[in-house]
Amino acid sequence: MASKRGRRGTKRKAEVQLTEESPSVETKRAGGEGESGQQVMATEGVEKPSEDAPAAGKACTRFDLEKETELRFEVEAGEAAEQVELELVTGMAEVFGSELNRNKKYTFGPGSKIAVFTWQGCSVSLYGKPEVAYVSKDTPMLLYLNTHAALEQMRKQAERDNERGPRVMVVGPTDVGKSTVCRLLLSYAVRVGRRPTLVELDVGQSGLTSCLAEVFSQRCEVNRKASVGGCIINTCGWVKGSGYQALVHCASAFQVDVVLVLDHERLYNELKRDLPHFVRVVLLPKSGGVVERSKECRREARDEKIREYFYGFRGMSYYPFSFEVRFSDVRIYKIGAPSIPDSCLPLGMSQDDTQLKLVPVTPGRDLTYHVLSVSSAEDGEDSARKGIVESPVCGFIVVTNVDTQTQVMKVLSPAPRPLPRHTLLIMDIRFMDMK
Ligand SMILES: Nc1ncnc2c1ncn2[C@@H]1O[C@H](COP(=O)(O)OP(=O)(O)O)[C@@H](O)[C@H]1O
Ligand SMILES: [Mg+2]
Repeated sequence: MASKRGRRGTKRKAEVQLTEESPSVETKRAGGEGESGQQVMATEGVEKPSEDAPAAGKACTRFDLEKETELRFEVEAGEAAEQVELELVTGMAEVFGSELNRNKKYTFGPGSKIAVFTWQGCSVSLYGKPEVAYVSKDTPMLLYLNTHAALEQMRKQAERDNERGPRVMVVGPTDVGKSTVCRLLLSYAVRVGRRPTLVELDVGQSGLTSCLAEVFSQRCEVNRKASVGGCIINTCGWVKGSGYQALVHCASAFQVDVVLVLDHERLYNELKRDLPHFVRVVLLPKSGGVVERSKECRREARDEKIREYFYGFRGMSYYPFSFEVRFSDVRIYKIGAPSIPDSCLPLGMSQDDTQLKLVPVTPGRDLTYHVLSVSSAEDGEDSARKGIVESPVCGFIVVTNVDTQTQVMKVLSPAPRPLPRHTLLIMDIRFMDMK
C-alpha cells in the first residue's frame, strides 16, 4: 500500500488515485523500524522477509526500471530449486497490484512467475539465480488500470444511487492471465478502500454456480460495503461448447454487468452476441509476460497446494493427524453421473440433473490416495442427502491406506478424530503423501 507519508497517485489517463484508506483485514503489517506506517498486501508468493538476513552467498543482480516498465522473472521449478529474493531499493513498485515495501526482502519459491511493475520508476535487486529475468516496456498495465478506474466509477455511482456495484466476470482461454487480472483488480479496489468479493469459479457445473450466486446476493442484501464493492468472478479456461454455455449461465446467474475477455476475439464476439445488450463486454490484451504452464507444472502446483493444506507453508508448520475410519461409519458419494446424450435422458431430466446427481461409492482399494471432502451436511438418512450438493465442506482428508479385510481405511486429516461429519465426497484429485 502507499505509505502514509508519501501518498501517491498512479494517475494518468485513468483518473484514479490508489491511496491508503483501507484499514484492511487483507493487509498485513510489515514490521521494522522506520517502516511502521507502511503496509503490504498479503498476496500469494509475497511474504514477510526473513528479518533482513543478509542473503549470504547469493548472487545479487540489480535492475533499474524506467516508469511503466516491468521486471519479469521466473524461479526454477522443482524441489531442489533455489528460492529467489526480491528487494525494492529505490522508488515504488508493485507485484500484481500489491505495493512493495522498500528494503524488505520478499521470497519467491520454486515455479513462481512474477512481474514487478513500476508506475514511476524504481530499482530492485534480485538475490539468487532466477531461471529468466528481463525487463519489458510492453505491458497492458495501463489498460488494466483504466479498467479499474471504470469499475471504480461504477462503485461511486452505486454509492450515490443506492444501487449495487459492478459484478465482473473475467474470461478467456487458459494461460492468458485471468487469475492475475482478477488479483490486480481486487488489489486496486482494496487499496482505494473497497471490499469486492472474489468468486473463484470452476464453471463446469451450472447448478453450483446458481447456488453460489444466491449466496453472494444474500450477502449483498445485508452488507452494503460488499454490495457496492461488487464481485470479480474468475473462471477456468474452458471456453468452447458446454464450457461456453456455462459462462453464459454464470453471467446470468450473477447478473454480471461487465465481462472482461482476455485475448480471445471470437469469444468476445460470441458473448457480445449472446449476452443482454446492457452487459458491457470488453476485450483486453494479455500480457506478454504470462507464461504457459505445462500439465506437469499445473500438477506440481496443485500437489504443492494440497501439501500446504496439511503441512503448512512459509515457515508455518501444521501437524496433520492420521487415523482409521471404519467403512460402516461413513457414506461416500461422487457428485455427477457420467453424462449421457440429451436424447437418451429420461423424460423431464436435464443435463444439470445428471451433473449434480449423487452416486454412492462402495469403499474399496481404489480409494487409496483420493482426496475426499467432508461435507457439512447433517448426518442422517435420505432427507439429509438432498442438502449434500448445496452444503459447504468442512475440510478435506486424504485416504492413505485401505484395508478391505477389516473394512477400515486410514486417512490424513488436519483435525484429530473423530470426523466432524460422516458424509464424504470423492473427487478425481489424488495426493500421495511421499515427503
Ligand atoms: N506480466 C507477467 N509477467 C510474468 N509472469 C506473469 C505475468 N502475468 C502473469 N504471470 C504469470 O503467468 C502465469 C499464468 O497466469 P494466470 O493469471 O494464472 O493465467 P490464467 O489464470 O489465465 O491461467 C502465472 O504463474 C502468473 O504468475
Ligand atoms: Mg487461472
